[in-house]
Amino acid sequence: MLKKLERNAPCWCGSGRKYKSCHEAFDEKVIGYGLKGHMIPDREMIKTKAQIEGIRESSKINIAVLDYVAEHIREGMTTEEIDRMVYEKTTQMGGIPAPLNYDGYPKSVCTSVNNQVCHGIPSRDVVLKSGDIVNVDASTLYQGYFSDSSRMFCIGRVSEEAARLVRVAKECMEQGIRQVKPWSFLGDMAEAVHTCACENGYSVVREIGGHGIGLEFHEDPFVSYVAKGGTEMLMVPGMVFTIEPMINQGTEEIYIDESNGWTACTDDGRLSAQWEVTIAVTEDGHEILTW
Ligand code: MF3
Ligand code: CO
Repeated sequence: MLKKLERNAPCWCGSGRKYKSCHEAFDEKVIGYGLKGHMIPDREMIKTKAQIEGIRESSKINIAVLDYVAEHIREGMTTEEIDRMVYEKTTQMGGIPAPLNYDGYPKSVCTSVNNQVCHGIPSRDVVLKSGDIVNVDASTLYQGYFSDSSRMFCIGRVSEEAARLVRVAKECMEQGIRQVKPWSFLGDMAEAVHTCACENGYSVVREIGGHGIGLEFHEDPFVSYVAKGGTEMLMVPGMVFTIEPMINQGTEEIYIDESNGWTACTDDGRLSAQWEVTIAVTEDGHEILTW
């Protein structure tokens, strides 16, 4: 909850200016939304300019890592080899792969193939074959700042059905991105994603979503892609979170693979696709940090 500051005290945002001439009016506006029953961000969710600069630097490594994977991924490669590439590229650039040892996660990246929705664990036993679609989800820690993004890769020749899912999943994310601006709601973004998926005959995973990010890998708020417009948290400048909807060809239902406790798979065994960006809300819209 937002606490009131003494008006002549230095502003909480780190600008060095007095609160009254900096964020006081902003706080009052945000609290006004709260009084109307909306969910509002607390101060930890609002990053300072210096913090966003830190996340931006982390994101540069995050992007470079996925660019590197994009250059080298090919048929016949194991997902373990992708893990190696992510580890090497990230550490060479001075970063740390954020997934490694996160909550006991054993690898540096998630590689989710075909019916795997997310959190696929790289393995020597998973060989990429022509026709596979694979999500590579890389997350980077650099000088205390986290970034997170993922892309889909089509291996060899994929079916038109699979290619369409991959294309539309990206379009869903892009439709969501267009809704990111201050004084709108996360639900506006979610509805845009969901509508795009439904119009194309697909479903959207409900239980797993995006998250705030920056000083921690996973921060509040939880970011849904099935919520209605005007609901969920108010977006304000300085918020940084991920847009990473998981789009399913068939049912939205998923289960977690019990053999590893991590990997989400579609209940019906049909395909799933996901793209992810880390995005910041700015004064007049948004900045995609990992693109
Ligand atoms: N990048 C994934 C996410 O969207 C990471 C999941 S945690 C991990 O947040 F340990 F599986 F990497
Ligand atoms: Co994420």
